Amino acid sequence: MSQAATLSNQTKRWQEMDAAHHLHPYTTHHELAAKGARVITHAEGVYLYDSEGQRLIDGMAGLWCVNAGYGRKEIAEAGAKALTELPYYNNFFQTTNPYVAELSEKLSTLTPGNLNQFFFANSGSEANDSAVKMIRFFWNLQGKKTKKTIIARKQAYHGVTMTAASLSGIPSMHPQADLPLPGFTHIDYPYWYGEGGNSNPAEFGLKVAQALEAKILELGADNVAAFFAEPVQGAGGLVIPPETYWPEIQRICKKHDVLLHVDEVICGFGRTGKWFGSETFNIEPDSMSMAKGMTSGYQPLSAVAVGPRMGDTLFNADEEWSHGFTYSGHPVACAVALANIDVMERDHLVEKTGGEIGDYFQGKLSELSNHPIIGETRGVGLLGAMEIVKNKETRERFGDAGGICRDHCFENGLIMRAIGDTMVLSPPLSITKPEIDELFGLAVKALDLTAESLGVS
Ligand SMILES: Cc1ncc(COP(=O)(O)O)c(C=O)c1O
Repeated sequence: MSQAATLSNQTKRWQEMDAAHHLHPYTTHHELAAKGARVITHAEGVYLYDSEGQRLIDGMAGLWCVNAGYGRKEIAEAGAKALTELPYYNNFFQTTNPYVAELSEKLSTLTPGNLNQFFFANSGSEANDSAVKMIRFFWNLQGKKTKKTIIARKQAYHGVTMTAASLSGIPSMHPQADLPLPGFTHIDYPYWYGEGGNSNPAEFGLKVAQALEAKILELGADNVAAFFAEPVQGAGGLVIPPETYWPEIQRICKKHDVLLHVDEVICGFGRTGKWFGSETFNIEPDSMSMAKGMTSGYQPLSAVAVGPRMGDTLFNADEEWSHGFTYSGHPVACAVALANIDVMERDHLVEKTGGEIGDYFQGKLSELSNHPIIGETRGVGLLGAMEIVKNKETRERFGDAGGICRDHCFENGLIMRAIGDTMVLSPPLSITKPEIDELFGLAVKALDLTAESLGVS
């Protein structure tokens, strides 16, 4: 049997097992079963390899998370060492472990301002769920028991647990589980290209931020616990707010004594060119959630960071905090996070993302705005978006162009995500200039093929 035939049989076998027994996240299962899942078997640097031998450049760093790139031996070895020394113990019964203690201290040196205390969980959703519980506990301890409602934004993505999905503002995330839960509400989001019409971005940013004040006044500040937001909205379409937006949000939160929680699950760990998006956008949050890039996805780990206002109250409470996961501060995940941060520091990945590599990437991205079907490109650090439009003047969409483009990318060896007709990039921060050239070469090819598929000459 030839090697190709052996691979094909093996692939088929995995696809059959998978189709019969594996419920995938965010998938229409009968469609996947008919098509057969692509089996990713290994990865190195910025490249993924499938079971049929195809090499793909991972323009999304997995799910915006493999910041250090694939195949980092130091991270794997740190995990293996921790697995050997202390594969598990919890942090419940007045115990801790060296890895979580060292990681907590390390994070306190990286997070902006005075966010110096950390609670650990396993996913971004759990971190956000935990943050909501912390916020409510904080206000209860303060004797402000009516401050309950959390204001979040349309098209926000904060995860999938009942609370995280209630925080999220992507409409398709709600009806299947009868969400949002009571106590969550959503305001407009600062998507200038899609919603700004003819206004200038600065005016639009201010206007959208002021929707927060209007909502606080409508609900009564005594009933509002927090505003919850990503510095750059990721899964909701890579929305980079105009520069007037965040200062106005900050002013409004302070004025009405509404806590500001920033979800750094995507923006954290260098993605926008600083360790945290809050630094890039000059935000001073009361609390922050982080996940993904903390371990570059090598292990599941997330955290909620709190500043002194919340931290002092929570730490000085007389009653026990009734919250915590079996795997909070898991030694192996924390060891992996420490090694990942070491690699990122040693290779200056954050500085490069905020400097020459990020600039090079943004330069290549902006060249695509000349493409016949691209209406706008936008980006920051190693985040980039392209709006596919039928008409550059009116910003009219095709409606189905994103999926077509994504499929052309896949067929030609590039992973680029489609959010509606917006194409999104978020490659590993370890990407080099030649790899950026390759990525954009493939992106142009996919866009040309998309234009052809859509009948644009
Ligand atoms: C900003 C943001 N918050 C939270 C989450 C949820 O994280 P997880 O999928 O680890 O639960 C995500 C996932 O993409 C995210 O992008």
